[in-house]
Amino acid sequence: MSNDSSAWIGRSIYDLDTPCLLVDLDILTANIARIQQASSAAGLDVRPHIKAHKTPQIAHLQVRAGAIGVTAAKVSEAEVFAAAGIEDIFIANQLIGPTKMRRLVALAGYVPRLSVAVDSIVGARQLSDSFSRAGRTIDVLLEVDAGAGRCGVPAQQLVTLARQVSELPALRIKGLFAYAGPAYKHRGAEEFARWAAEEAASLAAHAATLRQAGFDIQVISGGCTPTAGHYQPGCGLTEIRPGTYCLNDRNQIDLGACTEAQVAATVLSTVVSTPTATRVICDAGSKSLATQLGNLSDGFGWVYGHPEGVFYKLNDEHGYLDAGPMTWRPRIGDKLRIIPPRICTCLNLYNNMVICSGERVMDIWPIAARGANQ
Ligand SMILES: Cc1ncc(COP(=O)(O)O)c(C=O)c1O
Repeated sequence: MSNDSSAWIGRSIYDLDTPCLLVDLDILTANIARIQQASSAAGLDVRPHIKAHKTPQIAHLQVRAGAIGVTAAKVSEAEVFAAAGIEDIFIANQLIGPTKMRRLVALAGYVPRLSVAVDSIVGARQLSDSFSRAGRTIDVLLEVDAGAGRCGVPAQQLVTLARQVSELPALRIKGLFAYAGPAYKHRGAEEFARWAAEEAASLAAHAATLRQAGFDIQVISGGCTPTAGHYQPGCGLTEIRPGTYCLNDRNQIDLGACTEAQVAATVLSTVVSTPTATRVICDAGSKSLATQLGNLSDGFGWVYGHPEGVFYKLNDEHGYLDAGPMTWRPRIGDKLRIIPPRICTCLNLYNNMVICSGERVMDIWPIAARGANQ
C-alpha cells in the first residue's frame, strides 16, 4: 500500500513506508497561531510565504487563523493556490518574460486581489504593456534592497523608480517591500527583535520619502521567520511574510528562532544497514533530504529527539548517520525521524505529506505546488 492511500488514516506513523515526509498537525497549528497572535498584537497583517509548504491545506489553515492572504515566489505557485481558493496573493519576485506575463494576466482574471513585485523599469514596462493589452491593471509593490544584496533597488533610487512606474498606464503602486535576508546573520530573540525594529524603521522611512514625493503607500511589507513574533506595535511595517515558521527546520533551531518541539516537519526513514559499530545507513538520501547543509551546524539531517545523531553524508538513496555520539544505537529495521537542515528544499522533493498527531496518521495532503518552479 503506498503512503498516499487514505487507508493509513488512524494507523501509527511507524507503519508507514519510508522515506516519507511527516507533518505534525498540532505543532503546525500551534506555530501558525503563535505568530498570528503576536503579529496581530503588534498591529501587523500576516501574509505567509507559501514557498516553504507549497500546500493549499496549510494556506487555508493560515487564512483561517487570520492571515490576509499569501505570498508566492512563482507564478506557477500562485496558480495552484488561486485554484485552491486563495483570494489574495502577492508574488514577491521579479517576473520577467512574455510567458510569465501571459500567465500573470490570465491569473489576474480569477484572483480577486493579486499583486506583484517590481524593481526595474524594464520589468515594469513588460507588466504594463501586457496588462494594458488585456485592458486590465495590476497592483505592484516596489522592492527595495534592505541589505540582502539580492533583488531590490538601492534606497536612493526608490523615488526615481516610483516616478517611472507611476507613468505606466496599467500599474498601480500599492506599497513597498524588502527581503529580510540580513535577519539570518543574527541569533536569538533579543537580536531578532533589535534587527526587526531596525528593518521596520528603515522601511517606514522609505515609505515616508515616497509619500512626501506624492505616492499613496498603503503596504509596507517585510519580515521572515526569525523576526516574526518580535515586532512592536507602531514598528512601521503594515505586514510580514514569514514562510518557514509553520514547519521549522534545523536552521531555525540553530538560529534560536524555534525549539525542537516547534519543528512540525520530519522525514521518516528506516535503518537499512549497520556495517560498523557507529555507521548507521538509512534509506533517506539526497532524494529525500535535499543536499543543502545546515547554516550553522554541519550536517544533512538530525535525529528527532537525539540531536547528537547527525547525518554526515548523503548519497542519492542512502543517508550516513554517525551513531558514535548517540546514547541510543539504532538497529536494522528501526524507523527514525530526521529533521532536515532546510524544509523549503526538502519538502519540494515529496508529492504528499503525511499529516500526523503525535504518532497517529490523521490525513494525507498533496503538496500541490511541489515542483512549481516557474
Ligand atoms: C521575498 C521573501 N519573503 C519572505 C520570505 C520568507 O522567509 P522565511 O523562510 O525566513 O520565513 C522569503 C524566503 O526566502 C522571501 O524570499
